[in-house]
Order: sequence, then C-alpha cells, then structure tokens
Amino acid sequence: MQQLTNKQILVGVTGGIAAYKAAELIRRLQDHGATVRVIMTKAAQAFITPLTLQALSGNPVHCDLLDSEAEAAMGHIELARWADLVLIAPASADFMARLATGQADDLLATVCLATNASIAIAPSMNQGMWRDQSTQQNLQTLISKQVLVFGPGDGSQACGDIGPGRMMEPEQLAVEASSVFKIGSLDGVKIVITAGPTREAIDPVRYISNHSSGKMGFALAQAAMDAGASVTLITGPVSLQTPERVTRIDINSAAEMHQAVIETLPVCDIFIGSAAVADYRPTSIADQKIKKSTETMTIELVRNPDIIADVSNHPQRPFTIGFAAETQDVESYARGKLEKKKLDLIIANDVSNTAIGFNSDNNAVSVIWNDGKVSLPMTSKQQLGRHLIEEICQHYRKK
Ligand code: C5P
Repeated sequence: MQQLTNKQILVGVTGGIAAYKAAELIRRLQDHGATVRVIMTKAAQAFITPLTLQALSGNPVHCDLLDSEAEAAMGHIELARWADLVLIAPASADFMARLATGQADDLLATVCLATNASIAIAPSMNQGMWRDQSTQQNLQTLISKQVLVFGPGDGSQACGDIGPGRMMEPEQLAVEASSVFKIGSLDGVKIVITAGPTREAIDPVRYISNHSSGKMGFALAQAAMDAGASVTLITGPVSLQTPERVTRIDINSAAEMHQAVIETLPVCDIFIGSAAVADYRPTSIADQKIKKSTETMTIELVRNPDIIADVSNHPQRPFTIGFAAETQDVESYARGKLEKKKLDLIIANDVSNTAIGFNSDNNAVSVIWNDGKVSLPMTSKQQLGRHLIEEICQHYRKK
C-alpha cells in the first residue's frame, strides 16, 4: 500500500532509547511512498548517529539551528514549509514539555513552531514519567493545540518496568501517518454527535451521573470536521475545549439531550451517539435540598428515553451509529444492541480494561455491523477518532 506517495515527512528524533527505532521508521515510511527528511536533537545523537539516518533517508540530517552552512542549504523555515507532516518519534518527556510551552531553543522545536503542517508525536518514556502529572498536563496541552498523538503502547520497557510509555512500532506509526492524509471525504455531510455524560437531578444540588469524559465524542467531532463534514456536538458537562468550527450545544439531562437531538434530525445525515446517557432519572426532582433525616433513603427512578433508538425509528432517520461500552462478552452484547436499536453500525468498547475506555486518553474498539466487524487497535482517542470517521464514511457511502 502506497498511501504516502508524494507526501513529505519530516521525522524528528529526540533523545530516548527508542531512537534506534527511527531507522526502521524511516524505511517503513518510504515503503508507504513518503519522502523523508530527519531532524535530530542533541540528545538523540547520543543514541543513534546522524550518519545512519542520513544513509537511510537519502537526505542530509539536520541537527543545528545555528549552523550557517546547514541553514544556507535548507534553513529551518524551508524545512518547516517542506513538511506535509512533522512526525516526532520518539518524543521524549522533555520534548513534549518543550513543545507544549512553545520553546524555540533548538532546530526541532523551532521547526514545530514555524510549520503549518500537522504535527504528530510518538511518545516514548518510562511508565512513571508517562504517568506523571506534568507529562499528562503537557499531553492535554498538545492535544488542545491539535498535535496528533500516536500511542504510546503498553508493555515491557528497556528499563525493566512494565506499563504505558513504549513507542508505537514503526510499521504501526507509518499506518498512523498514512491516516493523517486519508481523511477528507465527508465534504458537505451533516453529522450530529452526542458526547459526555448526562446529569439527572435529584434536588437543586445533587445529581446522578457517570464517569464519561467526553473525549471520544470530541475526538470524533474533530476528525469529522477535518474530513469536511459540518458538525453539531451535543454534549453533557465535560471540561474539554470545543474543536474549531464545530457547533456545540450544551445540555445537562438525558431529556434535554433527547430534545436537542430530535431538533437536529431535519439537518442530519449521520448521527453518532457516543454519549453515556443515564438510563434512569429520579421520578421527581425535589424543589429544595433534601435534608438528612433518616438512616436510609430511597430514590425512585424512571427510565430515560433511549435517544439513539428514537433516532433510528424516526421518519427522518439518518445513518445511525451507536457505542456499546461493555465489561464482558463485548461483541455479543454489542450485536444485541445493534439489532435491538436498529443501528447501522455499533462501536464496541471493552471498559473492563482501565487503559482504554471511559476516562483514559487511549481507546481500542471494534466496529460491528450486521455481517461484519473490524477491530481498531489501541491508540489515542484523537487518532482513533480519525480511523472511526474513515470507517464510518466508507459504510455511509456504501448505503
Ligand atoms: O443500551 P446502552 O446504553 O448500552 O446503549 C449504548 C448506546 O445507546 C450509546 O450509543 C448511547 O449513546 C445510546 N443511548 C441513548 N440513550 C439512552 C441510552 C443509551 O442514546 N437512554
């Protein structure tokens, strides 16, 4: 498959043990049709030599910002303009921090600031460094700046630890890089996406809700927007930035979400229900804060409307996609919902694995339809959003 034909990829190599895999990455990107140039940070050169990457890429490797000879041959601004994608692999914790704060103290960081191309990072570090609050904050900052995050994977590490922080394998990175360019096939299609939790009021200060972060729905909205769709995002309370040019409607309860969704149906081609809608709400909402007077108390609940089922039974029915978050027998429960709710596709998510699902940044899912299924391996929700939009687009076009 030559999905990167005519694409110019600037590979940034930073200092980490996975730097040796940059050699393999260059080969895999070339196999997919890309032309590759390389920038190395000073720390990267302690792990692998510029000569190796020069020989593999077939182009001089760029290392210094203040090298007048190199600048004369191809300056940092030209490099920034040359790239269709800047792929930083491995991306160390230090480089993520510098990228998040917009530093321009070496060639790679400067090119990242100067470029209009998409930037993707493949984080690679010790699991403790990856889990550290500072790294996680930097990650959120980078995601909010539209930096794509490929991986990291989970498993045994060079330092002997086991956990998240392994750089994604070169072939998988090349596939992820290809997907950055594949998108763009939903021009003029109107998509409505629900996201986040709902809150079901008990009294003026209390509610019933769940742990949904909304990250998957927001990533889908971003990917659909990038693919040319016009996107309406109907979301419960979440602390996420709205993707640019997406129309956002904020709701609290399932009933409000239901109403907002039904109102959009006259202008909806594709509906994606990624919200974790509360199945029940209190039968009545107390006017005043309920006082603690008894040892036990009972709240009577009543079923909420099934929003997605109402969408798929609506006379103005759009192409309808649901999610199934399951902890066991994931596929069979998901197929049951596909049938019962009369969906076109269902995206099944194993939430018993805490590395993926509800509140995490990564996810792995299966897309299931009547007579088929495709599994999408673990990656960032942001990148998975792009894969899902591609998959959804293919099925929508066939219909
Ligand atoms: O039945 P279950 O809640 O597992 O189904 C999940 C799918 O149904 C998701 O797509 C979710 O957004 C949707 N749903 C809904 N309204 C509800 C409950 C779930 O739209 N009341």
